[in-house]
Amino acid sequence: MMTLSEYEKNPKELWDKRCEEEMARFDAFEKSDDFFRENKEWESQIIPIITGGDKSNICVDAGCGKGRYLSISRKFFKKVIAVDFSEKRIGMVEKLISDNEYTNIEPYCTSLDNMDKIQNNAVDGLYSVAVFMHLPNNIKNEALKEIHRIMSTGGVVVLMENFSIAGASGMYDCPSIIKDVWIMMIKDCGFNIEIKKLNYCPFCLYILSK
Ligand SMILES: C[S@@+](CC[C@H](N)C(=O)[O-])C[C@H]1O[C@@H](n2cnc3c(N)ncnc32)[C@H](O)[C@@H]1O
Repeated sequence: MMTLSEYEKNPKELWDKRCEEEMARFDAFEKSDDFFRENKEWESQIIPIITGGDKSNICVDAGCGKGRYLSISRKFFKKVIAVDFSEKRIGMVEKLISDNEYTNIEPYCTSLDNMDKIQNNAVDGLYSVAVFMHLPNNIKNEALKEIHRIMSTGGVVVLMENFSIAGASGMYDCPSIIKDVWIMMIKDCGFNIEIKKLNYCPFCLYILSK
């Protein structure tokens, strides 16, 4: 197993390597557990926060993985940009697009701290599920700044994260950060923040607005 310092030197390597193993795990979860599917709660509880109730223009799925939320999210935006730095994961998104003939999902293989193909203030909604808890702390900060750059004024960001982002000891790929530092980091990047607990899963929502 990688140590934390090895992980922080090259996190992308881990996510590429883990792809197949994780796919098997997700497939098993998807068969057994509603939470790991594209679920009705995602559509009824999360999407309305991101869209503010209206169909919006551009959404970003930040750290999309194999794209488990894309088939739902695409219905609520004119375009969804699916960002992940793992080529293997983006390859799976490309397969999802071609298998289903989706025309409004755009895969973008890059790290969240450098989304330079996306213009300033261009994005109306952004969500990111179980990603920030895996980012080295310096990358968390740079990614938040980059997200602030691409969001339109009034745009909403939903970061769905489990507890390990704040206060837990941190696994080798979940560098820990104390809650106050995490909240301060978000505010220093220019966002207002609201924190919500979900009643259908153990994740916490960090809702950021510009
Ligand atoms: C636990 S998975 C979650 C995937 C997806 N959001 C989901 O809920 O199914 C974390 C994802 O974040 C991606 N990731 C980690 N660090 C990243 C970075 N710096 N830039 C872009 N993607 C990153 C990984 O490749 C992986 O796909």
